[in-house]
Amino acid sequence: MKNLGILISGRGSNFAAIAKNIVAGKIRNARISLVISNRQQAQGLEVARRLGLETRVIDSRDKEREVHDREMAAALESKQVDLICLAGYMRLLSPWFIKQFPQRILNIHPSLLPAFPGLEAQQQAFAYGVKIAGCTVHFVDEELDHGPVVVQRSVPVLDTDDEHALRERILEQEHIAYSEAIDLVVNGRFRIVGRRLVGEAA
Ligand code: GRF
Repeated sequence: MKNLGILISGRGSNFAAIAKNIVAGKIRNARISLVISNRQQAQGLEVARRLGLETRVIDSRDKEREVHDREMAAALESKQVDLICLAGYMRLLSPWFIKQFPQRILNIHPSLLPAFPGLEAQQQAFAYGVKIAGCTVHFVDEELDHGPVVVQRSVPVLDTDDEHALRERILEQEHIAYSEAIDLVVNGRFRIVGRRLVGEAA
C-alpha cells in the first residue's frame, strides 16, 4: 500500500476525485495519508475533513519558499508519503523540495503540454483558438509544467463554447486523468527514457 500526500490551495475537486476513485477501486494499492493546504481557507480542506482524512494547513504567507517547503517535507515524511500529488497547489515548489522527491511528485495541468504552461491555461487555449484542448498529468521537475508526461486526455473545443464551458469539459477529464496516472505510477511497470514514460510488459 502506497501513501499519497495531496497538496492543495483551493477548491480541491481533483483531490476529491482521487479520494472517490480510491474508494471505487480505480486507484489500487494507495491511500491518502495527508492533505496539506498552504491556505487556511482552501475549500478542499472541508472535503478532506468530511472524508475523515488527516489535514494540515502549512501557511505559505510571508514565508520564504524553501522554509515553507521544508515544513511540508517534514510533514510528508512523518506520514511516510510515497507519492506527492499536486492538486491545484498554486505555489511554485523550491528546487530543494523537488530534489527531495525525485519522480515522486505528480502535477495536473489543464492543457495539453507543452502548449499553454503557466496560469489560466484554459483561457490561453481558448483565446489561441485551438480545436483540441485537454489536460496533462506529469512528473514534476525543476521547470514549471515541464516533467515527463504520465497521462494526457483531450477534449474538443466546440464553436458554441465559451471559456467556462471549455474549462468544465477539461475539468471532467482532469478528474479521470489524475486517477489513471496515480494508478499507473503506483501499480504500473514503466521506465522513463529521456522524457518518455514507456510501459513494460508484466
Ligand atoms: C485544475 O484546473 C488543475 O488542473 C489546476 O488547478 C485547478 C485546480 O482545481 N492545476 P481543483 O482545486 O482541483 O478543483
